Parts: sequence; structure tokens; C-alpha cells
Amino acid sequence: MTFPPRAPFPATRLRRVRAHDWARRLTSESSLSVSDLIWPLFVFDGSGTQPVPSLPGVSRLGITQAVEAARRAVDLGIPAIALFPATDPSLKTEDAREAFNADNLVCRVTREIKAAVGDALGVILDVALDPYSSHGQDGLVRDGQVVNDETVEVLCRQSVVQAAAGCDVIAPSDMMDGRIGSIRQALDAAGHAEVQIMSYAAKYASAFYGPFRDAVGSAASLGAADKKTYQQSPSQSNEAIHEVALDLAEGADSVMVKPGMPYLDIVARVKQTFGVPTFAYQVSGEYAMLRAAADAGWLDRDAVMMESLLAFKRAGADGILTYFAEAAAERLQ
Ligand code: PBG
Repeated sequence: MTFPPRAPFPATRLRRVRAHDWARRLTSESSLSVSDLIWPLFVFDGSGTQPVPSLPGVSRLGITQAVEAARRAVDLGIPAIALFPATDPSLKTEDAREAFNADNLVCRVTREIKAAVGDALGVILDVALDPYSSHGQDGLVRDGQVVNDETVEVLCRQSVVQAAAGCDVIAPSDMMDGRIGSIRQALDAAGHAEVQIMSYAAKYASAFYGPFRDAVGSAASLGAADKKTYQQSPSQSNEAIHEVALDLAEGADSVMVKPGMPYLDIVARVKQTFGVPTFAYQVSGEYAMLRAAADAGWLDRDAVMMESLLAFKRAGADGILTYFAEAAAERLQ
């Protein structure tokens, strides 16, 4: 009886390529750079800083401080910031009309930031009514329902004043149907054809947004209500693909998946299906969770920060909106 020559055991040793730092670097399939980061900033109409208790290490910034943060982003090489206003409660109304006041807080801050840093930094402004509505919903409420088409008209007005203030990217996070196409038309008609639309195309009705709602002050307005009639259920994957397909057909330049870490399967699927610029939002609850564990001494903050951000890149994200942006950018210098 003859036997085939036996291969030395084991013929394949994956540990060989892991054995040295140079070999690990040479074989690495994904990497994180400063150019992958978008830094979210909360702003308030005043000066100084206001810590957000449920987001350790994150503060709302006064106008001067927001301009300083924008300069810091440029110095660190962060490509873009996303501004979120904490609106004075006296300006919140049922019809959220402060959203399309051309002199509202985000418009003023955007003008100041653009005057200070110009084209060295992209400014992304959210489009949704929750920072401005007395009920905390992203759309207009009629008879207890968030109404779609009327909301879209307001979102168009909000987009146009934000573009006129000088933002580079309009990021609709409201999840109304048809808003991308309508906003694109409104921007073009107002002479803002150069302004990009980054659509929060696959945004889930998530409990991970809690600290954000504290930061912008919408938690109290929303109370026990939820956003399940417009944000997607966490059970959905095909529906996310459908949403992205529609938003791209309506003219979105890039798409966002949100939240991030619990939805990396969606990030991967969106990137593989469409091959378009795909972003992910490591949302407030994800940040708070990692920070709280690190602050308790249970996790190594820098290690989990860098690992979680690299995981987004591995999944296929082109960039990550993250409250760790500044700290990660410092590590990446
Ligand atoms: C609302 C909006 C939310 C976030 C960004 N834009 C919250 C929500 O939908 O209630 C959450 C981001 C975060 O948790 O960091 N348009």
C-alpha cells in the first residue's frame, strides 16, 4: 500500500504573518486615518462650555468655542464637522419654525466657522425638526401623527437657509419619504447645486440616541413618545437596502447608516450593494457605553476607541461620525 506524501503538520501556519509588527502591517486589510473622521459638535447660543452629563468628555460649545473647535479640527486634519444646535426652549414651537430662520443658531455658527476656516473644513448640517419642535419629533405633528409631505416642505426651507449660511453638506436625518429628491430640487432652484446631500438613509429607531437627546434638549420634549413610524425597526435589513436605493435615485451623494456598531452588517451590505460613499454614525449611546466602562477602569479607552473605529472601516465604511473624533485624530498624528 502506498500513501501520498504527508504534508508537514501543519502546512499552513497563519501565525507566520502575525509574528512580527512589519508583517502585520504589510498584510493589514483595512486601516484608519484622520481623513476617515467626522467630528460632531453641539452648540448653544452663548459662550463657554456646558458639559453633557450623559456624554462624559463632550460639552456643548458656545459660538466662540465652536469656532475654536473648527480650527482645532483643521489643525488635526479632520476633514469635516457636523453641527447640532441645543436650541433655547423658548424658540421651540409646534411648527418648528426656528428651523428655517436664516439667523438661527446653526446658521450663525456656520457663517462664523466658514469665515474662520473657509474651505479647509467641510461643515455638515443636520436636517430634521427635532431640535426646534416643542414635541421633539423630527417632523410636523397633526392629530398625533407625524405627517410626511408637509414636513418635507419645511425640511426644504431648512435646507435652503442652511446652504445659504455656507454649509457644504446637508444631512437629512429625519427619515421622511421623498425628502432627498425634494431637497435636491429646492437646493438647485436656490442656486446651491454645489451643496452635497449626505442622506441618513438607513436610520433605525434606536435606544442608543438617548445621550444625544439630552445634549440637544429634545429628550424632555419627546417624553414617552417614540419615532417608530419613520425610523426603521432594528429587525430590518432588506428595508435598509430599499431606503438606500431610493435615496440614491433621488440624488443623495452619500449615505449614512445609524447607529453604527450594532448595525455593521448593514454598513457592509450597503457598501457591497451600491459601492457609493458610505458613512456610519457611532452614536451617542455607543460612545457613552465605551466611555463609561473606560472611566470605571473596566476597558482601555484608547484601545477600544481605535478598535471600534477600525471595525467600521473593515465593514466598508468610508468614514465615521464619532464623538471620539478629536481623541482618535490625536492618536493618529
Ligand atoms: C435627530 C438626530 C438624532 C441623532 C442625530 N440626529 C436623534 C434622534 O433621531 O432622535 C442621534 C445621534 C446620536 O445619538 O449621537 N434628527
